[in-house]
Amino acid sequence: MAHSDPIKVGVLYSETGVTSSIETSQRYGTLFAIDQINEAGGIDGREIVPVLYDPRSEPARYAALAEKLITSDKVKVIFGCYMSSTRKAVLPVVERWNRLLFYSTLYEGFECSDHLIYTGAAPNQNSVQLAEFMTSTFGPRVYLIGSNYIYPYESNRIMADLVSQCPGGAKVGEQYVPLDATEKDFKEVLEDIRNVQPDFIFSTVVGDATQSFYRAYANAGFDPSTMPIGSLTTSEVELAQMGGDVAAGHYTSAPYFQSIPREANRACLAKFREKFGDAIAPNACWEAAFFQVHLFAQAMAASGSDDIDALMPYLLGSAFEAPQGMIRIEASNHHAYLYPRIGRANSDGQFTIVRETRESVYPDPYLVTHALGDSALQMTPVET
Ligand code: ACM
Repeated sequence: MAHSDPIKVGVLYSETGVTSSIETSQRYGTLFAIDQINEAGGIDGREIVPVLYDPRSEPARYAALAEKLITSDKVKVIFGCYMSSTRKAVLPVVERWNRLLFYSTLYEGFECSDHLIYTGAAPNQNSVQLAEFMTSTFGPRVYLIGSNYIYPYESNRIMADLVSQCPGGAKVGEQYVPLDATEKDFKEVLEDIRNVQPDFIFSTVVGDATQSFYRAYANAGFDPSTMPIGSLTTSEVELAQMGGDVAAGHYTSAPYFQSIPREANRACLAKFREKFGDAIAPNACWEAAFFQVHLFAQAMAASGSDDIDALMPYLLGSAFEAPQGMIRIEASNHHAYLYPRIGRANSDGQFTIVRETRESVYPDPYLVTHALGDSALQMTPVET
C-alpha cells in the first residue's frame, strides 16, 4: 500500500568524547545524503527523517541508544559507529531485534554479520597496500603504536603478519596508550622508537589522541622523510586538528581522500560545502557515511520497505557512483568493493595521492586470499 509517512532512521555518531571530531564528519556525511534524497522527493515521496542521539564515544551508550532507537523510536535501520568497540556493542542489539546497521568505518575485518552492511575498508583494501608501500619505500622493520581497544590490537597484528612476509621484515616494538592520551603519554613510546630505530611506524591511534601523537613525534625531532608514520585512521579530520606542518610527510591508506581528482568528487564536495560550510572536514569515513545512505535509499525504493528482510536482497550486489568511484556491495560478505589509495599528508592539511588502484578491489575481510605482493592488489604510482 502506498503511503506518505516519513521514514525514520537512526543516526548514532558521537557529538562528544574522544572520537567526536571524526564522527561529526560521518554524521554530516549522513545528513548530507539524507538532504539530497529528500530534496529529490524522498523515497517514493516519503521523507527520510533522521533520529539522532549522542553516544559520547562510549560503547555501552551505543548499545543502549541502539536499543532505544529500535524499541522507542521504532527505527528499522541505523547508520553509525566509528570505533570497532562501539560496532561490537551495537551488533548483538541489531541481531536480537532483526534490524540493520550500516557501518561506515575502516576496521580490522574478521567479522561478517547478516545484520550489517560494511562500507569502510577491510584489511585487504588498506592494510595490505600500506604494508607494501611502506616496506618497499622505507624498509621492513615496523613499530606498532595504538589506542587501547580491539581495532588497534587486531589491525597491528595484521600489519605485523604482513611485514613478516618481507625479507628482514619484523615488528620491532608494540605499545598501547589510553584513548584519551595526550602528548606526554607518548614520551616513553618515542624514546623506545629512538632506541630501536624502526624503518617506519604504524599508528592505530584513533580520535583526538592522533594529533597528540603526531605532535609528540614532531617535537621529538623525528623526520618523516626517513621514518614516517603510516596509518589507516589519520584522515583529513585529524590533519585539521594537528595542523599541516605537523602532518606533512606522513602516509595514510584509504579508499577516499578529498584530493581525488574525479569530477564526481569535486561536485560532491562543492555541494557539501555550499550546504554545510568549511568547518567539517570530509574524509573516507564521511564518504562511506554518505554513499551508504544512498545505497539504503536505492534498496528501499526497489523493495518498498525498510524491513531488513525486504531490503537485503536489493542491497546485496547493489552499486553506487560514489566520490571514490563506482562501489558495490559484495553479496557473500556484506562488505564493499573499494578503491585502495595511498596519500602523503601535505602542509595544506590534504593528502597528495601517490598510489592508486584503477579497478575496485574485492572485499576479503578474513584475508583468505590476499597476501603481500598479491597481483590483484597492485597499485599504480601517481605522478605528483
Ligand atoms: C575502528 O575502530 N574501526 C577504527
